[in-house]
Amino acid sequence: MNVPLLDLVAQYRSIKDDVTRAVTAVIERQSFIMGPEVGQLEAEVARLSQTRHAVGCASGTDALLLPIRALDLKPGDEIITTPFTFFATAGAIQNAGGTPVFADIDAGSFNIAPGAIEAAITPRTRAIVVVHLFGQMAVMEEILPIAKRHGLALIEDAAQAIGARRKIDGAWRMAGELGTVGTFSFFPSKNLGGFGDGGMMVTQDDALAERLRRLRLHGGSRQYFHDEVGYNSRLDTLQAAVLLAKLPHLADWSAARARNAARYTEAFTRHPAICPPPVDPANTHIYNQYTLRVPRRDQLQAHLKASGIGSSIYYPLALHLQPCFAHLDYQRGSLPVSEAATGEVISLPIYPEMTREQQDAVIEAILAFYA
Ligand SMILES: Cc1ncc(COP(=O)(O)O)c(C=O)c1O
Repeated sequence: MNVPLLDLVAQYRSIKDDVTRAVTAVIERQSFIMGPEVGQLEAEVARLSQTRHAVGCASGTDALLLPIRALDLKPGDEIITTPFTFFATAGAIQNAGGTPVFADIDAGSFNIAPGAIEAAITPRTRAIVVVHLFGQMAVMEEILPIAKRHGLALIEDAAQAIGARRKIDGAWRMAGELGTVGTFSFFPSKNLGGFGDGGMMVTQDDALAERLRRLRLHGGSRQYFHDEVGYNSRLDTLQAAVLLAKLPHLADWSAARARNAARYTEAFTRHPAICPPPVDPANTHIYNQYTLRVPRRDQLQAHLKASGIGSSIYYPLALHLQPCFAHLDYQRGSLPVSEAATGEVISLPIYPEMTREQQDAVIEAILAFYA
């Protein structure tokens, strides 16, 4: 049986009329730049994230770049982040003039470890970028006090975690709510994905929201008048229209992913070779990815491929060992938990439209490989 890693066509079929209507309205109006859908989506994402502001931009990468630019870094300023994430997290730090400093992860959640952050702080540290990896929030209640104590900005890279939440002191806090800024990606494979690139930043800070709005429009608050040099990083109206049509389904889609995850975990949990992803009981995981740790990972992936089953390795090389960061002088072995993860992880199909038969095929193929 064929089971792709992700089936966006199946999702499109289920919402085709709504999306087509939304996109057609923009086309009929011919107002493609900063049309009303952008503001409407910003209001909806701010409400979902329990923040005062949301500012759309061109991608999840720019959603990181702009707030880091807003820190006005000086050469040599350091920003602590995880080496076990998509490249953009650290790429944005360097592109905004910062020096990435990598802190190792927690072996269970794959998220940055608070103790490792604390150990990486120096007099040059300006900010921490936490990533809510695969759709599960980091331990914000431990990281926030570290940031506060050292006077650091805290950026939440929630590209994979829109709508994820964590119970802190008895209250549900949303991904993006608690940091200086939270950032989202609308890359098509995300739980809320557009028909192309898109991103958004959320914040509680009025002045910072204004600055981010300027930075996405060439640094000017009035057309043709520029307070600083910014970017062309608008969210397309067409993308906003698609995302507005999809947003009402997000909670159901994430719940379906969680149901699929529960079935996988039940099937794998008693197998001695397979380590399903542990979920912190304080978290509602949105499962942008369902990621196992396994022995003989590459052979398993080849076996799945031969069985018609899609999978992916997020991520095969930790960022501190990437050639582009050789100048930072990290050695193999310096961040052992992340390095071990890169050799053991494999992400399985988890998309909401996956049928029971398809999921059974994935489970059977994996159990047969380790039998
Ligand atoms: C953790 C993380 N950060 C940043 C990004 C960058 O987002 P985009 O691809 O929209 O630029 C992504 C997604 O691709 C991501 O997964």
